[in-house]
Amino acid sequence: MVHSSLIVTAAFSWLHLVNAVNNGLARTPPMGWNNWNSLACDVSEDLLLSTSKKLIDLGLRDMGYDHVVLDDCWQDIRGEDGYVTPDKGKFPNGMRAISDQLHMKGFKFGMYSSAGEMTCARYAGSLDHESKDAENFASWGVDFLKYDNCYHMGRMGTPETSFNRFKAMSDALRATGRQIALSLCNWGEDYVHTWGMSIANAWRMSGDIYDSFARPDDLCGCDTNNPTDPFCIAPGTHCSVLFILNKVAPFVDRSIPGGWNDLDMLEVGQGGMTDEEYKAHFALWAALKSPLMLGNDLRVTSPSTLSIINNPAIIALSQDMHGRAAQRVARNLDVPKDEYGVGETHIWSGKLHNGDQVVILLNAANEDLDMSAPLSEIFVSEGPGGSAPQANQSWEVFDLWANRMSDAEARSILEAADDQTRAEIFGKLGWYNATDIPYEVGLEQGDKRLFGQKVGVVEAHSAWNVKVLRHSAKVYRFRRSGVKSEGHNEL
Ligand code: GLA
Repeated sequence: MVHSSLIVTAAFSWLHLVNAVNNGLARTPPMGWNNWNSLACDVSEDLLLSTSKKLIDLGLRDMGYDHVVLDDCWQDIRGEDGYVTPDKGKFPNGMRAISDQLHMKGFKFGMYSSAGEMTCARYAGSLDHESKDAENFASWGVDFLKYDNCYHMGRMGTPETSFNRFKAMSDALRATGRQIALSLCNWGEDYVHTWGMSIANAWRMSGDIYDSFARPDDLCGCDTNNPTDPFCIAPGTHCSVLFILNKVAPFVDRSIPGGWNDLDMLEVGQGGMTDEEYKAHFALWAALKSPLMLGNDLRVTSPSTLSIINNPAIIALSQDMHGRAAQRVARNLDVPKDEYGVGETHIWSGKLHNGDQVVILLNAANEDLDMSAPLSEIFVSEGPGGSAPQANQSWEVFDLWANRMSDAEARSILEAADDQTRAEIFGKLGWYNATDIPYEVGLEQGDKRLFGQKVGVVEAHSAWNVKVLRHSAKVYRFRRSGVKSEGHNEL
C-alpha cells in the first residue's frame, strides 16, 4: 500500500519541477502599467486612480493590462518602529485605500522597493528590512512587487550573493501568506536568468530601457559585442530596444510559465521612436514573453499609440499558454549601417500552443530590405538543416498587424465623452475583450480577432520572402495548411 503522504510528496516535487517559483502566479507574462518611464518620481494617488480609469475607458484593462504598478518615490522615511510610511503629500489616504479601489475595478496593485539600503531614487530600501516591508505590502493589499538592485552595499558579484539577497524578500513575501508576485530588477547581474526562476516570477535581464530603437549609449555599458558579459561595468540606464534584444537572445529559453525574462517596461507612445519602431518593439516584447508593462502616460495617449498596444493578435502571442519565448534563428550583420555603425537583421521564431508558429522578420538595418525566412530556419528547433518535419509541409501566413485599429476608430475611443458613448463604440467595433474571453479561450475557439489576416502560403521546403522597411518588423502567425505525403509528418 502506498502511503498517502508519499503521493503528496511526489505530486509536490513534480509541481516544483514545472512551476518555477511555484507560487502559482504569472502563468502568462504579467501585463499592466508602470509610471516610471514617463513620469519617474511624479507619483500620487491621483495619478494611480486616474490612470486606472484610463485603462478602463480605453479598453486596455479588458485587453489584459490588469496591473497598476507604482514605482519608486512613494516613500517617506523608515520610522523608529522599523516600518516605512508612504509620503502623505503624495498619498494622503495611504496605500490600502488605493489598493481597495484598484481591486474593486478589477486591477492588481503593484509596488516597488529595492534590495539595497536605498532605492535607486534614494528612498528607504528594503535590505535587511525585508520582513517588515513585506508585512507592509501584504497589509496594503499589494499583489506584485518590483524589487530593484540599487545601493546593495556590495552584496553582489557572485550568483549566490545576489540570489541570497533577493531570496530574503521572496521568503518574506511568502511568510505573509498573501499571494504577491515578485519581479526582480537586478538588470541581468550575476546571471539572474539562471536563478531568478527559483525565487521570482520575473527578472530584468538588462539595464534600463530608453526611448530609442537602436542608438548605442555609453550609459548602457555592457559590451555590445559580448552582450552576455555578466561582469559588465554598468548595466546602465540607456539601453535601446535593439541592445536588449541582442542581450536576451542567448537565453530567451529561460522563460517558463511562472518565471519570465523581463525586457523592461514598454516605451510605446513616448515619442522617441517611429510608429514602425514602436510596433516592432511591442511585438517582440510580446513574442519573447516579457512582461508587458505600458510605460507611457495614458492621460495623453495618441490614436497610433492606442492602436499598437490594443492589438489583440499581438497580445495573444504574449498570453499564449505554451509560455515559451520566440528564439532568434537568424542574425545578419552584413547590411547597411547607420551613423553609429549599427545595422542588422533578425528572424525570430517561436512555437505556439496550438501548433502555430510566430515568425518575426526584423529589419534594424539602415535601408529597406528584401528579407527571406526559410522554413528550415524557422523550424530549426525541431531539427536543423531542414530535417524538421514542419519544413516538409506548407504553411498559411497570417499578418498580425493587418487588422490594427484605424486611427479614426482609436480617436473615437480617446475622444468619447462618456461611458455610454464608449460602450457604443466598443460594441460597434466588436473589439476583443479578454475579460469576457480570456486569450486561452479565444485561441482555443479560433477567434478570428487573434489570428490576423491571411497574406499568403509558404510551400514545403521553401521560404517566406517579403520587403521589410527600415527599422520595422513583419509579424506573422504561420498555420499548417497541409502535409506532404512523403517524409515525416508527425508533429
Ligand atoms: C532603476 C530601475 C528602473 C526604475 C528606477 C527607479 O533604475 O531599473 O526601472 O525602477 O530604478 O528609481
